[in-house]
Amino acid sequence: MISAKDFIPSKYTHSVEEGNFQWSAPSNIALVKYWGKKDNQIPANPSVSFTLNNCKTITKLAFAKKDISTALNVTSNSFSFDLLFEGQPKEDFKPKIQKFLERIEIYLPFLAAYHFTIDTQNTFPHSSGIASSASGMAALAMNLMSLEKALNPEMTDDYFFQKASFLARLGSGSACRSVKGSVVVWGNHANIEGSSDLFGIEFPNAIHDNFKNFQDTILLVDKGEKQVSSTLGHDLMYNHPFAERRFAQAHENLDQLISIFENGNLEEFIKIVESEALTLHAMMMTSMPYFILMKPNTLQIINAIWKFRTETKIPVCFTLDAGANVHVLYPENVAVTVLQFIKNELVGYCQNGQYICDEIGNGALLN
Ligand code: DP6
Repeated sequence: MISAKDFIPSKYTHSVEEGNFQWSAPSNIALVKYWGKKDNQIPANPSVSFTLNNCKTITKLAFAKKDISTALNVTSNSFSFDLLFEGQPKEDFKPKIQKFLERIEIYLPFLAAYHFTIDTQNTFPHSSGIASSASGMAALAMNLMSLEKALNPEMTDDYFFQKASFLARLGSGSACRSVKGSVVVWGNHANIEGSSDLFGIEFPNAIHDNFKNFQDTILLVDKGEKQVSSTLGHDLMYNHPFAERRFAQAHENLDQLISIFENGNLEEFIKIVESEALTLHAMMMTSMPYFILMKPNTLQIINAIWKFRTETKIPVCFTLDAGANVHVLYPENVAVTVLQFIKNELVGYCQNGQYICDEIGNGALLN
């Protein structure tokens, strides 16, 4: 089994003075949710997600070796980087990046030897309530791996992507599912070969055509700052009265999804996905302190989807992440009808009528 130690590199064979890379990495939407973690970003239960295609972060990483006199003084944590968001310096993002670099330095020992300029932008509107930490951390991890590959060109592609996901996880857990593949599993699961708590893997078994080009229309219900961050929410799963049962349930749901992905049973798919979304929010409502991230319009949308599904028998469902926005999931062959339904009946519940059409994608790309 692969352990974290396997990602500590031996001596690099090449030296690189300066250069730049640019990677884009997508967001992802979990079907079985990651909610609760142990030390070092180890998930309390396995999760699985669809990789998105349009919602992504594009990050350019420029790097230049520090001069020798500074380099000699290099000690751990003495990272030097500038951070730009949409071309403008963004000081308030820096502490998160600083912490990320500290966490991953043991795996990328070259970090303190360079000055970095990290220039990042999202394709989705700023403060849309769409988490940019998954796509953002994944895009940064890809760039850092490109630099490590330049220092060690012998590196295999498998190692490259696995370590990129491993590093992204240390930035934000769900980010490890934004690296490679369209259906990604993160976390040990007895019946999924190669699954690991340390990184995401492409779902290795058969996937029915019903899930090819699956659509995700994201309804922006509330774009405000969340009252409770995901990181805090995860912590509240410690000593949560239902935690152990919930973690076991995630294993069971993933087990069921293995057959559902293979046989294409959308009715069963919907049951698991909607139950997971509501369970996630049930965990929030039953932690101490308790909190609610759904808004009245979140519930209006859920009810409208249920009514539409009952009346039309069209296999459309919802999922939620840690916020009020609703992800509407449906197969490509019903896209025209569902989009019309969204425009007619759901857009009124969105803040400023805003929604984003996305679909399943393939992971990070070198631009
Ligand atoms: C509800 O990955 O944002 O979206 O590891 O603390 O950065 P950190 O948390 P994060 O949590 C995501 C939670 C979720 C469910 C999921 O994506 O699986």
